[in-house]
Amino acid sequence: MSSSIFRDSLLGGKVAVITGGGSGINLGIAKRFAEHKARVVLIGRKQEKLDAAIAEITAAGGVAMGLSADVRDFAALGIVFAKTREAYGEIDIVICGAAGNFPAPAIGMSANAFKAVVDIDLLGTFNTCRAAYEHLRKPGASIINISAPQALAPMLFQSHVCAAKAGVDMITRTLAMEWGPTGVRVNSIVPGPTADTEGMRRLAPSPESAEKLKQFVPLQRFGTKDELADLAVFLCSDAAAYITGAVVLCDGGQSLVGSGVWTQALMGK
Ligand code: HXC
Repeated sequence: MSSSIFRDSLLGGKVAVITGGGSGINLGIAKRFAEHKARVVLIGRKQEKLDAAIAEITAAGGVAMGLSADVRDFAALGIVFAKTREAYGEIDIVICGAAGNFPAPAIGMSANAFKAVVDIDLLGTFNTCRAAYEHLRKPGASIINISAPQALAPMLFQSHVCAAKAGVDMITRTLAMEWGPTGVRVNSIVPGPTADTEGMRRLAPSPESAEKLKQFVPLQRFGTKDELADLAVFLCSDAAAYITGAVVLCDGGQSLVGSGVWTQALMGK
């Protein structure tokens, strides 16, 4: 069991669906939600990865299942949400976490490469929110879109992710307005540099670039998946009942310093 700042189970009786839930930040959130007594459904492209994640969660006493679907496939998401509702009932929480990224200059990227990331990150987020809507418990449901620092400031070699994640935050704000009257809350989480994630392995691949980056974070370290998971628990709990349309940073203050530090990491300086 990972360490949480919360002592009590805050999500008892809730049903949570998490895209990209088979690994990384999203799996961290899934594990924490299960510890807080939510029933969790992991969505991902690879069933074997989901199976391994489900085995971990259930071995720790959680209730979980994995359903394979690509967030680029709206029809497949419709099936997954219908199956979730059939098994667990109305859905209380949706985490739109599926994402793709690779560092590349625009000139080194085909149109299809740019599109691949926009399709997963931006369209995938819309598809997930849209497919979930009719299955959400209303009022009371909470959606979290996982954004990125690239939504807030431009970053070299990240034109696709910057465009997609800025769009994700605007989906958050727009749906918060459109769906607020039905009692559905929609927020974004912006993870900063987070230890032991695929994103960091791609953006700061060498130990030197990672160390350099840390020096520019006001809190002087990378964040942890547990810290992000606790923020997600808070935002989905009744403690955050009046918070919607927010883009919440969990980045040790890194965004205050600017995106130049990421550029240095990406250029190996
Ligand atoms: C240039 C590249 C490339 C690279 C792929 N492409 N990698 N172009 N440089 N390094 C091109 C391919 O040549 C192809 O274009 C197009 O992108 C699509 O590639 P496919 O492999 O066919 O697509 P697909 O199988 O759908 O894979 C999507 C992917 C892949 C995004 C390219 O990396 C992926 O599945 N990633 C998921 C896991 C992941 O990215 N995790 C990190 C998430 S972190 P052509 O023209 O040849 O067809 C994150 C947070 C960011 O997102 C924030 C961190 C702080």
